[in-house]
Amino acid sequence: MESKPNEQDGEEKLAERHIRIDTHGLVVRFGPIVALNSFSVGVPKGIVGLLGPNGAGKSTFIKAVLGLVEADEGTIKIDGLDPRKDTTQVRDMVGYLPEHDCLINYMNAVELVSYMGQISGMSSKDAIQRTHEVLDFVGVGEERYRIISSYSTGMKQKVKLAQAIVHDPKILFLDEPTNGMDPQGREEMLELITKIGASGKTILVSSHILQEVEKVSQYVIIINEGALVKEGQIKTLMVGEKNVFKLRVRGSQQGIENFGKELEKLFNIVSTEDEEGQQSLVIKGTESGKKLFKLASEAGIQIREFGPATLSLEDIFIGAFKEGD
Ligand SMILES: Nc1ncnc2c1ncn2[C@@H]1O[C@H](COP(=O)(O)OP(=O)(O)O)[C@@H](O)[C@H]1O
Ligand SMILES: [Mg+2]
Repeated sequence: MESKPNEQDGEEKLAERHIRIDTHGLVVRFGPIVALNSFSVGVPKGIVGLLGPNGAGKSTFIKAVLGLVEADEGTIKIDGLDPRKDTTQVRDMVGYLPEHDCLINYMNAVELVSYMGQISGMSSKDAIQRTHEVLDFVGVGEERYRIISSYSTGMKQKVKLAQAIVHDPKILFLDEPTNGMDPQGREEMLELITKIGASGKTILVSSHILQEVEKVSQYVIIINEGALVKEGQIKTLMVGEKNVFKLRVRGSQQGIENFGKELEKLFNIVSTEDEEGQQSLVIKGTESGKKLFKLASEAGIQIREFGPATLSLEDIFIGAFKEGD
């Protein structure tokens, strides 16, 4: 029989055409500090969280991809383009909300955002029109005619978002977009990001706050000490971990401690939580439950609960950093 190209392959090809960012073996050094240590990652379409503690290398990664810091080694491709060579094309294609202040304080929001639009290749007429649209979208009202130095941090963040999207870029880099905002402002910012994501853009959002990433993204890249720890669909990361168990033990403090020491030799302890006279644990491993009960009886403690567990992203996050220790 003649083989026909199947439909699914066609669909996959189409999906691949969405903008991707790929880096391979990226190294960035600042003197003796290795900020990115052979960082290889493929950023798929959609909203993607770049998650890691302070100093992990998130901002350096974004700046390296944008060509704002020089990479010592490695390759970078944005939709097949090299930001270090195809500077203009890449600049027009990306929007960037930097971590630190990037606003010009003596301008008002309309002046600043339309100026940024023009830098990204828009005519002044188009830039002004789009500026009002994006300021409406982010929720900056009549304040848009006041000078930026008089703005609250929350409003500055919204203007930073507006200038990043004014030229309708295909790819957005948002570096800790909720930085310095109050809880309500954070909520609003996350909602805006979700809305922008729904329009089919590729958005990389960096954060050191897991709950925030969980709210906006379907896909997460976890970075620590300049290296990739884990990446994947949040859904898959959460259910894809096999051989994970939750366990609740009861007994004397000494008994629980002794049990823990022995347990550690057989299982990877993902998390522990101490309560009065008992401890809840999430553990990972392929050893049999029988062994576990034996250990408990040897330590003179009781197992009150034992069964399969699903890892939350939080568990994965903590576990990932433990493994990296
Ligand atoms: N311009 C710089 N000069 C020297 N060290 C830097 C510079 N920028 C970043 N670093 C260092 O590189 C590492 C990664 O920093 P960064 O990318 O800012 O992390 P993150 O954004 O995840 O908090 C840190 O150790 C930081 O101190
Ligand atoms: Mg940073």
